[in-house]
Amino acid sequence: MKLRITHYVLRVGSYKFKKDNMKTNILVLSGSLRNGSHTLKAAEAAWQGAAASGANTELLNLGDLGLPMFDDRDDTASYPPEVWEFLAAVGRADGLILASPVYHGTVSGAMKNALDFLHLGGRDVVQGKVAGLISVAGGGSGINTINTLDYVARALRMLVVPTTVAVPGSAFRDGSLHDGQIARRLAHLGQEVSRYARLLREEAEPAARIVA
Ligand SMILES: Cc1cc2nc3c(=O)[nH]c(=O)nc-3n(C[C@H](O)[C@H](O)[C@H](O)COP(=O)(O)O)c2cc1C
Repeated sequence: MKLRITHYVLRVGSYKFKKDNMKTNILVLSGSLRNGSHTLKAAEAAWQGAAASGANTELLNLGDLGLPMFDDRDDTASYPPEVWEFLAAVGRADGLILASPVYHGTVSGAMKNALDFLHLGGRDVVQGKVAGLISVAGGGSGINTINTLDYVARALRMLVVPTTVAVPGSAFRDGSLHDGQIARRLAHLGQEVSRYARLLREEAEPAARIVA
């Protein structure tokens, strides 16, 4: 009985602590550089899902970020500030949502280039963090892009959530996402990443919960 009460107090403490100071951080990366990108629209839908579940959220459109090409140089300090801003955003995140356009049946160069920059942060920058995967095609098939993102996420030792969304070109009309079912799946993906990231964080920070 006493144990039960203690557990309850810790749970309440945990809730208060996270609500006030320690929300889960979710970063959404959109991997098209095109103005009016459909991938960005899909990324926004997932972003809203994560935000609705109570997470802190950040959306980085790689088209706005202007990362240079990763070249594995020795003098890493010579990379421009946007590289370090990108790494800092990834470092802050407990979970990432990776949204890539389908380019020739696989991921965009911009998305792969951004993921290659994670090499500079060492494995800890994403290892053990949660990943949600989205592809956006002009046609109907984006599953190979999802699979490619899955390979990269696993190589980075991330944990990929069960829901993935391969968005077909037909889901868009006049530049907007008009397929309600796809929009709901994207929001669900955002919620799922947020939920698993929160669970992993609770697992990793029992001391923080007790202090609260
Ligand atoms: C270089 C290039 C290759 C592409 N390859 C494919 C493809 O293999 N399959 C497909 O369905 N769409 C393909 N597309 C179309 C994009 O997936 C489409 O534009 C989609 O809307 C996602 O890109 P966006 O976020 O820039 O809108 C390609 C587009 C470009 C520019």
